[in-house]
Amino acid sequence: MKKYFIITYGCQMNYNDSERRAYKLEKQGYKPAEKMEQADLVLINMCSVRQKPVDKVYQKINYLNSLKKKTEIILTGCILKEDKEKLKNKVDKILPIIDFNSPCKYKFRDKAFVPIMTGCNNFCSYCVVPYTRGPEKSRPADEIIKEVKNLIKKGYKEITLLGQNVNSYSYNMKHVTCNIKYGNGKINFPKLLRLINDLKGNFSISFLTSHPKDMSDELIEAIAKCEKVKKYIHLPVQSGDNEILKKMNRNYTVEHYKELVKKIRKKIPKVVLTTDIIVGFPGETEKQFENTKKLVEEIKFDNIYVARYSPRPGTAAFKMKDDVSPEEKMRRKKILEEILANQK
Ligand code: SAH
Ligand code: SF4
Ligand code: F3S
Repeated sequence: MKKYFIITYGCQMNYNDSERRAYKLEKQGYKPAEKMEQADLVLINMCSVRQKPVDKVYQKINYLNSLKKKTEIILTGCILKEDKEKLKNKVDKILPIIDFNSPCKYKFRDKAFVPIMTGCNNFCSYCVVPYTRGPEKSRPADEIIKEVKNLIKKGYKEITLLGQNVNSYSYNMKHVTCNIKYGNGKINFPKLLRLINDLKGNFSISFLTSHPKDMSDELIEAIAKCEKVKKYIHLPVQSGDNEILKKMNRNYTVEHYKELVKKIRKKIPKVVLTTDIIVGFPGETEKQFENTKKLVEEIKFDNIYVARYSPRPGTAAFKMKDDVSPEEKMRRKKILEEILANQK
């Protein structure tokens, strides 16, 4: 009996894709291996958002190739062109990102991820996602509903809807025949939330990730009104400085972000709010970093995920000089994390 082992890097989307890959492999007759060394086939699901996970993939592949046992190595996920070139001779196969409509072997028994869209059209200057996952593509609403219904039937209690930018979910129901409420017409993200909220059963709905530039009033309203939707919003701000936000191509200002948070907290008083921040973006001065500090002090997030800027080949920011030293990036990261810790 042939055995497989999956190694996943990156975000929840990649973890969900791995669950779908696992289903496919088991359909082909593979059984899970407990350790990668025991596997006949190792599938590596790669993330390229920063250099660190990329380096780890190179190490893993070299390690697997050094084993006496011949292991089939399959590479998939978010892979940059230059890495594809360098890795193609070191692995047996490179597979494209798996389709979100393919069946899934859910890892847990009570909570599950459900992708609703993939890709991104935003081209933030530092980010690889539009290159690795391609343009935004929304999953048919009836497919999503079908998967969620099936999960509820199986007793799942926590559903997390996934997309790089869930706010721009858009699907035209005219193209499909289905009998769900809200009938024909365009389904946007707030409508999709309401549709899923209307399904019978005892379960909660969460979602990741929202973009501050298109977090609409309609969406805030839907989160507030839908009793099954968790009052949790992950709203990456990335920087508290308008010049840096502009260089990042984020398409909003600090003022817009603060207004948005005010609106959200008014409509959803118990909301849990978290964010992502990048420190040491090219040219980020001490003063510009101070503005991010101020924002973190002011908003009082429930949690922040601080990343040190990592230049990514092919992105717009790659042409800018990565002039904040690694030590300084670390210092800035720690300062922000301390502010948060002291607010608790
Ligand atoms: N779609 C989401 C985030 C996707 S990537 C959004 O729009 O916010 C997840 C996080 O990784 C980002 O929020 C950002 O903080 C971080 N990140 C992305 N590219 C990065 C880079 N080149 N260097 C450091 N951190 C990065
Ligand atoms: Fe990357 Fe920006 Fe798209 Fe998020 S919105 S995935 S940060 S390009
Ligand atoms: Fe996710 Fe990494 Fe791809 S963060 S979308 S797995 S580049």
